[in-house]
Amino acid sequence: MKAVVVEQYAPIDQIELKDVPSPLLEPGQLRIRVEAAGIGFVDGLKIEGRYQTRDPLPFIPGTEFAGIVAEAPGSPGGYEAGMRVMGMTRSGALAQEIVVQPEAVYPLPDGVAAEVAASFRANYLTALYALSARAMLCEGEQLLVLGAAGGTGTAAVQIGKLLGARVIAAASTPEKREFARRHGADAVIDYTQADWRDTFKQLTDGHGADVIFDPVGGDISLQAFRSIAWRGRHLVVGFAGGAIPALPFNLPLLKGGALLGVDLAQIPTREPDLQKRLMAQLTGWLADGRLQPVVGHVFALEDFREAFRTMQTRAALGKMVVRIAP
Ligand SMILES: NC(=O)c1ccc[n+]([C@@H]2O[C@H](COP(=O)([O-])OP(=O)(O)OC[C@H]3O[C@@H](n4cnc5c(N)ncnc54)[C@H](OP(=O)(O)O)[C@@H]3O)[C@@H](O)[C@H]2O)c1
Repeated sequence: MKAVVVEQYAPIDQIELKDVPSPLLEPGQLRIRVEAAGIGFVDGLKIEGRYQTRDPLPFIPGTEFAGIVAEAPGSPGGYEAGMRVMGMTRSGALAQEIVVQPEAVYPLPDGVAAEVAASFRANYLTALYALSARAMLCEGEQLLVLGAAGGTGTAAVQIGKLLGARVIAAASTPEKREFARRHGADAVIDYTQADWRDTFKQLTDGHGADVIFDPVGGDISLQAFRSIAWRGRHLVVGFAGGAIPALPFNLPLLKGGALLGVDLAQIPTREPDLQKRLMAQLTGWLADGRLQPVVGHVFALEDFREAFRTMQTRAALGKMVVRIAP
């Protein structure tokens, strides 16, 4: 089968597409024919060996995928050959086939395209978990989304609207702000401007942000926390800007505010029942069309490097997806 193979931790330009043997199927596992894989920020870090955990070399990158069950001896987890699924794994999705435990996949509602499914689970589950289970976002509250045209940011804009919040989307370019508006933001803001907090204050009539969804980090996070409303909740989602900010403890005291961590990777083991409930809510919204996940750009497998480059150069609108099966 064809697969992207990381033999040495290196920038994406040095990573090759190779012909490798199909993975072995062990009892209780499923073989999936991968149709599409979503590229996440973490995948880029893993390839370069810069993520907090390192995959042993050589490895096939790619954590999120959608495809068709090709082999399911004994029907593990109730899955049968021919069923369409979406899944998340530690690695291996940028390949024509992947072998996984049944717990790694989720049945795909009818009519959802593989590209959509492959860009869905990580970002939308992160957004729903963060906004509803951690921040308890309420109808009518002011939600500030940083990096609002990125993968998790776009999901937070859409989920924020579904939960009834007023969504203010912060992004660095007019194109990105327009993208966020198209996907539901009520107002947009250019957070590269020195006075963006004044503009934000006006946009919320002096109230500030009840909830901040923050996948960006760095100095922007500190500035945003200073714009939080009384009893506001700041969700720590990621550090796409590179720097991990240090918040002076007097700020939460003065603002009556809370800093809340979000880690999707730990939800399946620490809160499995909650994950099931959130996935049921998401797939329900998917099935009835209330949620239409945003696919940023779809690349052919041969062009996988371009998918990573687009994300790594801050040029991505929405999530990048690689189409694997024709
Ligand atoms: N906690 C969790 O469970 C969880 C789950 C998924 C992802 N994450 C993390 O969340 C972060 C964002 O992921 P994502 O998928 O949303 O990424 P993304 O699609 O690349 O979006 C990140 C956004 O951050 C902004 N940004 C600011 N400085 C940047 C820089 N130097 N390089 C790239 N982007 C920069 C960009 O918006 P502007 O240009 O508008 O500033 C960009 O749109 C990552 O750190 C990822 O690891 C965490």
